[in-house]
Amino acid sequence: MNKKLLLVYLIILIILIIIAQLIIPKQNKENNLVTEQLKKFSYYKKENLSRYLSYKQLNNNLSINEIITNVNIGLDNPYYTNIKETTIKDPILILVNKYNYLKDNYIPSNLETINEKYSTSQLKLVLEAKLAFEQLSEEASKHNLNIKAMSAYRSYTYQETLYNRYVQKDGSIKADTYSARPGHSEHQTGLAVDVHNTVLPYTSFDKTNEFTWMKENAHKYGFILRYPKDKTNITGYDYEPWHYRYIGIEHATYIYENNITFDEYYIKYLDK
Ligand code: DAL
Ligand code: ZN
Repeated sequence: MNKKLLLVYLIILIILIIIAQLIIPKQNKENNLVTEQLKKFSYYKKENLSRYLSYKQLNNNLSINEIITNVNIGLDNPYYTNIKETTIKDPILILVNKYNYLKDNYIPSNLETINEKYSTSQLKLVLEAKLAFEQLSEEASKHNLNIKAMSAYRSYTYQETLYNRYVQKDGSIKADTYSARPGHSEHQTGLAVDVHNTVLPYTSFDKTNEFTWMKENAHKYGFILRYPKDKTNITGYDYEPWHYRYIGIEHATYIYENNITFDEYYIKYLDK
């Protein structure tokens, strides 16, 4: 009886070894092919190779470009995992998202109050962003459009209060779709501004003529729509037609013309 059982086990083992010998070389061959394609991209990172290959196996429909981009952003891991303190090379181009954060003591050095003509309350932005926003709002007003700031720089502790309030109201899963956790909000950079037209609530900003104008003109002043409708899988946030991020005219124009997010742009061109 025992001998029979042993024989069955032995046969199963031999079959498994034969199957593995058939599968493993095929997988290796495929991985080698993918690796060759991956290496052609300037933003390929050697240290991410095993992540690219695992992600490719799970997402075979994605192009090699998407595989590298998504993995470099961090999207092969759930939001808010493998988080790191963001690196600041150019303070105008800080990347803050669900994988990159600012410390609680980070306060931009050159915050200035937005002129009250362009803002519904006393709000601050980094000087360069403030001047650009004032120009944008002034230009819009010449077309009878009213684009006013309603939230701009937010401290770590203020964001913490906001986020906790939303969690109390909606629970953390829902809150995470529309509010950043403290340290992970672009508003802490002093480079992000939420706008409204003072008539409709900001959540309906995309129904306004002001939004239509912003869509075509924000980049000319260095601003981008940071959380577009068709990019929620990349940004990790619901569509926010009211939230604009300052990155300067050149970068904003590229993003506008190529319809990509700042997250993608950053890993392709700024993450050197
Ligand atoms: N609503 C944006 C994502 C923030 O909280 O910064
Ligand atoms: Zn915002």
